[in-house]
Amino acid sequence: MEKQIAVIRGDGIGPEIVNEALRVLEAVAEKYGHQFQYVDVDMGGIAIDRWGQALPREMLDRCLASDSVLLGAVGGPKWDGMPGDQRPEKGLLALRSGMGLYANNRPAKLWKQLAQASPLKQEIVEKGIDFIVVRELIGGVYFGEHRTDEVNGEQKATDVMSYSEHEIERIGRIAFETARKRRKKVTSVDKANVLDTSRLWRKVMHQLAEEYPDVEYADMLVDNAAMQIAKDPSQFDVVVTENMFGDILSDEASMITGSIGMIPSSSLGEGSRGLYEPIHGSAPDIAGQNKANPIGTILSAAMMLKYSFDMDEEAAAVETAVNQALDAGLRTADMMADGCRQVSCSEMGDAILGYLK
Ligand code: IPM
Ligand code: MG
Repeated sequence: MEKQIAVIRGDGIGPEIVNEALRVLEAVAEKYGHQFQYVDVDMGGIAIDRWGQALPREMLDRCLASDSVLLGAVGGPKWDGMPGDQRPEKGLLALRSGMGLYANNRPAKLWKQLAQASPLKQEIVEKGIDFIVVRELIGGVYFGEHRTDEVNGEQKATDVMSYSEHEIERIGRIAFETARKRRKKVTSVDKANVLDTSRLWRKVMHQLAEEYPDVEYADMLVDNAAMQIAKDPSQFDVVVTENMFGDILSDEASMITGSIGMIPSSSLGEGSRGLYEPIHGSAPDIAGQNKANPIGTILSAAMMLKYSFDMDEEAAAVETAVNQALDAGLRTADMMADGCRQVSCSEMGDAILGYLK
């Protein structure tokens, strides 16, 4: 197969981790007889520096003209002082929305080799952690009006959160369909005791639940969900929630699995074109030092193979190679443990490539 992949290296550790993922994609192409063409896209801080905008139109168009998009990470202290609408993160939000990617899929799965690295008690970890956060990605407070006014001699800031029924229904469907392919359990997370958006969310989810009688359904308030993820994560299969709750809970979910550096994600809308990125940030403190964990990005590339290109076997081969590198005791600094060997970002890439070939 021939596929065109838009590649956004981004800021901080972005270029290093994307580099390793591209080497893995090339090894897959060679092994299975595919041709991948890569198109460079500037987004985030680097685009602000080069083009004066976090996501120039031309860059969005390159993504829209590709079969899929691979992203490292964006942002950094250099751009922290910029006004909200000119920050690197704005580019990421514009990309998600410009590509119509409303469904963000963030697996929280414990790699057995990393069980010791989980901050949870081992008796909790041993019950298993294997769930997915299905996060609504292009609505809610992230995309409502943002403003700061001068009122009665002081500043007053406002961020508007709103959801329409169709926005809730389409993400709900993704959650129920995903659950059907897994352990058939959906937990919908909201704050229906306080927010109107959450009450509407709950109403639409309940309507959907009737269409999926084979899927077990439960509502959970977001504060309780934060607690339950730490207390008994084995109870979750598919967690569906709005944009900001999903942002927060997916960080918590990744942490309990041992390392945020391991977690990939996919963002999809209608059609097969997606955006694939690790869920961690640009880690400016270790950028350029060849220390970062490339596995989240490598697994994101594997998700791209599976979900956008229907290359199940190729994706499984990448996951197996990652497993073998972990079995061999190789660890980047973020997940280093006793008895393991600490390796650099590129050494981890080398090892995974070795197992893949
Ligand atoms: C994420 C990130 C982004 C978000 C930031 C960088 C805008 O935290 O992908 O979770 O909040 O969505
Ligand atoms: Mg986040």
